[in-house]
Amino acid sequence: MVNDGKNKSFKTADDSHKHIKQHYEKTGAGKDYPPSSSTENAVVDRFHHGKKPSTPGFIEESLRLNLFWLRIMSEHALFIRLGLPCEEVALRLEAEQLQKEFARLLDEAQQIAENPTKNEVFRLNREAINLTTAIIDFKSRVLQLIICCDIVTGFNLPLLIDHIRREAIFFRASLVRLQEGLTVGSVEELIQSQLFWLRIMADHSKFILHLLDPSERRFIGIAREFSDLFDQLRLHARDFESMLVPQTFENSLLDDTDPVVLRPGVFGEGLPEPFSIGSLDRFTEEAIAATAELRDFKQTARELIERCRVLSIISPLLADHVFREAVRAVEDLTMLERLLPPPCEFKPDDQKKLHGDPCYTREQEFPAGEKPSPKGFLNPSAKGANPEPSGAHR
Ligand SMILES: [Fe+2]
Ligand SMILES: [Fe+2]
Repeated sequence: MVNDGKNKSFKTADDSHKHIKQHYEKTGAGKDYPPSSSTENAVVDRFHHGKKPSTPGFIEESLRLNLFWLRIMSEHALFIRLGLPCEEVALRLEAEQLQKEFARLLDEAQQIAENPTKNEVFRLNREAINLTTAIIDFKSRVLQLIICCDIVTGFNLPLLIDHIRREAIFFRASLVRLQEGLTVGSVEELIQSQLFWLRIMADHSKFILHLLDPSERRFIGIAREFSDLFDQLRLHARDFESMLVPQTFENSLLDDTDPVVLRPGVFGEGLPEPFSIGSLDRFTEEAIAATAELRDFKQTARELIERCRVLSIISPLLADHVFREAVRAVEDLTMLERLLPPPCEFKPDDQKKLHGDPCYTREQEFPAGEKPSPKGFLNPSAKGANPEPSGAHR
């Protein structure tokens, strides 16, 4: 859905952004949108013959992941190093080594992408998983040192380190799924992707907000509005998660240390398979539109930073980094939205009966004169129990 201006939360950020963008377009910034194709976009275009991506296969999706995220990981190592205090020599060296290793692997991925074979891509994925595991460990150690106040100077915000560790975990999980041939249902994958990207976009807004010079009141106000908007969108996606994919919600309540085999047998009982609804489709379009707005704002900010027309401690590379991630978020969400099944395709027969017959009334469930007892509603196996999906987890 394109923002029609009726949604107030979009309107404020939208209007402010457009005003500033129009102003700076007069000065030459923001003219070359959409952005010229990066290497990874060129490869995606090549595999999809210039069409929008549909469902990529193992090789295509592996390369799409590696060509984007290996560069991102290398830049994360650089950002951490620049934010560490001078006396943390060992950590700075470790960061530099990781930066080089990811840059080397990105070169390799670009060469493989010229003429990829399944074996080469499989090996590339394995190496990327190992290296990403190493940077996750590094980010975890740095984060722990900062939040336990063992590092008290430098410029690495704790949420920034947590943020870039989440990105690494997302990249590794995506590669492992491909490598192991694990499939995730389209509704679950879309909602998990929304939860990931909407939080990333909210974080970016917060980082921009905190790294701008306090004198830049106008930009700070816009960044704050984006931050609030994406926080709200993420909460909305969280509601969809428990409504539409309740097994995921239930599984998240398990002790992380328990192996899957020890999952209690009752888990999943009474819970429907994931399904889609029309408002998820609408929400996804809103989320994509909001992300595209933030992407445009970042593009303007990047150009202003490059031209030294805004006061901040945001480097041009960091501005470009968060811009590329917004481009990627729009691409991922758009691709997954197209895989959604039609709304309200329920599997259980009784749910089909409930929602498929427009003449159906609640009274048809019970013989004339009989009403279910309150106890009946609480016991799913009792006669007259409420056949709709339970709201026990809300
Ligand atoms: Fe990042
Ligand atoms: Fe990010």
